[in-house]
Amino acid sequence: MSAADTQPPDANPADGDRLVAYASPGLNGDIVVPGDKSMSHRALILGAMASGETWIDGLLEGADVLATAAAVRAFGARVDRASNGRWRVRGCAWTSPAAPIDCGNSGTAARLLMGAAAGFPIEAIFTGDASLGRRPMGRVLEPLRAMAASADGERLPVTIRGGGLTGIAYTNIHASAQVKSAILFAGLHATGPVAVAEPAPSRDHSENMLRAFGCDVEVEDGTVRLGANRALAGASIVIPGDPSSAAFPLVAALIAPHARVTVRGVMTNPLRTGLLTTLAEMGADLAIANRRTAAGEETADITARAGPLHGVEVPAARAPSMIDEYPILAVAAAFAHGRTVLHGLGELRVKESDRLAAIVAGLTACGVEAHADGDTLTIEGQSGPPPGGADIAAHDDHRIAMSFLVMGLGTRAPVAVDSATMIATSFPNFVPLMRSIGGHCS
Ligand code: S3P
Repeated sequence: MSAADTQPPDANPADGDRLVAYASPGLNGDIVVPGDKSMSHRALILGAMASGETWIDGLLEGADVLATAAAVRAFGARVDRASNGRWRVRGCAWTSPAAPIDCGNSGTAARLLMGAAAGFPIEAIFTGDASLGRRPMGRVLEPLRAMAASADGERLPVTIRGGGLTGIAYTNIHASAQVKSAILFAGLHATGPVAVAEPAPSRDHSENMLRAFGCDVEVEDGTVRLGANRALAGASIVIPGDPSSAAFPLVAALIAPHARVTVRGVMTNPLRTGLLTTLAEMGADLAIANRRTAAGEETADITARAGPLHGVEVPAARAPSMIDEYPILAVAAAFAHGRTVLHGLGELRVKESDRLAAIVAGLTACGVEAHADGDTLTIEGQSGPPPGGADIAAHDDHRIAMSFLVMGLGTRAPVAVDSATMIATSFPNFVPLMRSIGGHCS
């Protein structure tokens, strides 16, 4: 942290893509965040396999989802952007793409598209950036091979040769919606029963959206089954705000003195609300209002107000419902009174970066005691603003970058992140939106 970084922020653009966040008391505003990323990928993929037209409103226009849009176009679907967030997809029987499918930074794009493509008698090569190339794909390829798809390799690039799939009764060892969705999407074109059991329920947007496209899906005792009718018909899909993005302004409001922020139209599917449950247990002042159902998903307006937080112990069983929120929860825990212990975080090591290591390194650099022991993360809360004053390696990980920028809005000295470019994968307007509620970030 240089001396210049301790000066008040000005309107100058960021130096390269490095960003610095400064203490921002009194954050205040009423905002919406972009559409849910998980639903956005699914709406494009299912629309691209459905007969007729699909209209999507509230599509997240972030790099991850745009990679999926380009991919389904390459498989033959017609995809048009009508206006901001409003897209039309005309589905087809997928054909072999002329070039490799580049999934960019997106594990969801790679895993869901490989599953969907495996159902068609086509050949496709899947690639991605360096981070995605390090992430495990065997968890999806193993069940696809068991359904008679051909897939080489365990990491990208992977070539899928699909078609002629058989059914499967698969018991996943991970509570992974990506694995479950890949099998269900492949299963749309398989003969015979298709069933996926999980050790704990993962997000169920694929099940909900398959039903919206007219496909029979049954869920019983933790097992999801495709029914006899697996035909998809074009649908109208409205995508609510992404709770994983809303988490950033909400936690910012909890830790910046005198703050009050409302995020409207946030999806509150109970399989995505582990962070809200945990923050409430920490004593957070959160108000959830105007609960409604939009496009088969629960939605609400959420208001967060600054106030004292206390440390908690979070069981491993809650991890699937907040798997992407641990970096920002760790920031909240750093401001809390007492120790926070988070169990069952093994999957964080295979996200866009090794998030467990990135959280520990970032908190430590900000003067907060934190350590990982196996799959458990322990954070010693500072009972108020931690020192901050650090340069954080974001490891090209959007959620690590956003989490530490939020931290800098409340710490005693500014917090810098080395690269903010990847924020565009999931939350392209993060910086202007945080500025609009008074967040000093430049
Ligand atoms: C997602 C599932 C989760 C999550 C990811 C999005 C999805 O991954 O971390 O950001 O849209 O299905 P896993 O399935 O690997 O848990």
